[in-house]
Amino acid sequence: MDRRDDKSSLSTSSEEVVTENFSLEWNIRFDTKVISGEIVLDLKILRDGVSQLVLDTSDLQIDAVENTSNSEKLKFQLKEPHKCLGTPLEIILPSEVQKKDSKVSIKITYKTSPTASAVQWLKPIQTAGKKHPYLFSQCQAIHARSLMPCQDSPSVKSTYDAKVTVPRDLIALMSAERCGVEPSADPSEKTFLFKQKVPIPSYLLAVVVGKLESRKIGPRTLVWSEKEYVEDAEYEFSETENMLKAAEEILGPYEWGQYDLLILPPSFPYGGMENPCLTFITPTCLAGNRSLANVVAHEIAHSWTGNLVTNCSWEHFWLNEGFTVFAERKIIGRLQSKKHRDFHFIGGWKELHNEVQGYGAKHNYTKLIPNLEDVDPDDAYSRVPYEKGSIFLYYLEKLVGSEAEFEDFLKSYIQKFKFKSINTADWKSFFLSFFHEKESSGVFADVDWDQWFYGVGMPPVKPSLDTTLSSACSELCQKWSKAEEQDVINFSSVDIRDMDSGQIIEFLRLLLLEPPLTDVCVREMHRCFNFNASGNAEIKFRWLRLCLRASYEPCIPSAIEFATKWGRLKFTRPLFRDLFNFKPSHEKATSAFNDHKENMHPITSSMIAKDLKEIDG
Ligand code: BES
Ligand code: ZN
Repeated sequence: MDRRDDKSSLSTSSEEVVTENFSLEWNIRFDTKVISGEIVLDLKILRDGVSQLVLDTSDLQIDAVENTSNSEKLKFQLKEPHKCLGTPLEIILPSEVQKKDSKVSIKITYKTSPTASAVQWLKPIQTAGKKHPYLFSQCQAIHARSLMPCQDSPSVKSTYDAKVTVPRDLIALMSAERCGVEPSADPSEKTFLFKQKVPIPSYLLAVVVGKLESRKIGPRTLVWSEKEYVEDAEYEFSETENMLKAAEEILGPYEWGQYDLLILPPSFPYGGMENPCLTFITPTCLAGNRSLANVVAHEIAHSWTGNLVTNCSWEHFWLNEGFTVFAERKIIGRLQSKKHRDFHFIGGWKELHNEVQGYGAKHNYTKLIPNLEDVDPDDAYSRVPYEKGSIFLYYLEKLVGSEAEFEDFLKSYIQKFKFKSINTADWKSFFLSFFHEKESSGVFADVDWDQWFYGVGMPPVKPSLDTTLSSACSELCQKWSKAEEQDVINFSSVDIRDMDSGQIIEFLRLLLLEPPLTDVCVREMHRCFNFNASGNAEIKFRWLRLCLRASYEPCIPSAIEFATKWGRLKFTRPLFRDLFNFKPSHEKATSAFNDHKENMHPITSSMIAKDLKEIDG
């Protein structure tokens, strides 16, 4: 557990060299899908005798490397590419800086490739407005290396600044403070300036370029999107400032100045991404009734857990996501009720159960701290660090015995480790020292730490949770899953009259854990509830899966449409998987995928291609 090395990076370790700041100058060209420019890395050498620097790259063309203090060219070489970690770039450091505490700035002139995995280039036809192209990045986990040569490891934190030149009609935003616009040498272009004064890991670098508009929805919040979404977004996320205030009560002061939201095009592969100063959000959260705004609470919470205190490698990802889910549900607890908090933990436990079942209870990825030797962290991505991690913290909070005391702990944990990257051992020893009196009186005597950290399958303990809100969901689930075909024809929509969207999602989540329904049952369920017409993507997604599991053929066109329209991996991957696995839809789904893959996000198309290959053998 004490290993600090990052198996997902090929760059020089953060114990030898750190990048303290980087400065980008980019020209973004939509016609060639290339970003060209330079990066200046301000490096601090931490050991004697470091003669070379290795940086992560992926698909980059390196044109020149120089020492900025004397413009001296530095020798460099791109080495053999690794199967999933990119191509290491080796640079010979000037001999005078090869000692502890020396500093050097190096400038690298380079170009990205049109296939860079961190970005999706959208044609005008793929946008809501249809007139202008659009570009957005997604660097987590290890895609920053396809945008810039860097120490692409969360163990390294740097401040950054950037000058980004784009077509004149468009707006560029980054995960940083906006510092104005300048005319560019070419009058058809303009240049946007940015600065991020808080040190961040490379995976939090982000850029978006498009025909964007904004609305102010709070004292420190603008919501950005194409014009077509901006009003819906303004309504959907109007609770943002209240969530920020609740988060500050739980975790301490917000350190990033601005908290803007960006609503992306439908192909955005995640629900949300906590890019500093500018959270990215999928448009599938625009349910029309604010019922999916917990994604914003989650990304807000990352402003502390993840962005201030960062996992030092992807094996310790639960320190980012488990803590963030825990904080997200505390925010929900404050804004709604404690019953809602427990309700979300109940749903989370089911999701965990489902994930463990899917992998098999002995799988490495069911560990809170998996082994990521030789794996692409995107392939290991699952609900496990989220749900096993957050329920572990919930369990510890119950042992501590008081939510207030646990929140005091959270605040001092943030203060202790902010601006740093840590591993699980760092967290554990701080936890035990914070609660040393309880520890000596045996409060944690029964905690099987190693089972929690390294055990496979479900956690060793299940904390008890308030079932007030979930019992209606499990009752209705039982009613449907136990019913005979002659019963269901008498069922009606009355059963969900008093349920909110969250409870309907939970009802469907539970039904998906039961044996498949018959096609008569789903037809009757369609008559009762018409979930197909739901504007809530979480409801519609689960409904479509339920239909496919019931071999209900009439749902195939809707399922294909949904899976190709929304690029959010959480939806599109399981739906395509189900469609590939279902004989009557296999061929149609395969050709729908082949027709769309060129225009999909690079992460999404590569994931679905892998899934399809696995199924087709
Ligand atoms: N940081 C993650 C998204 C992520 C993780 C992207 C790993 C790439 C690699 C983000 O904070 C997240 O967890 N999003 C969730 C939101 C949910 C838990 C509310 C999502 O995308 O579903
Ligand atoms: Zn997260």
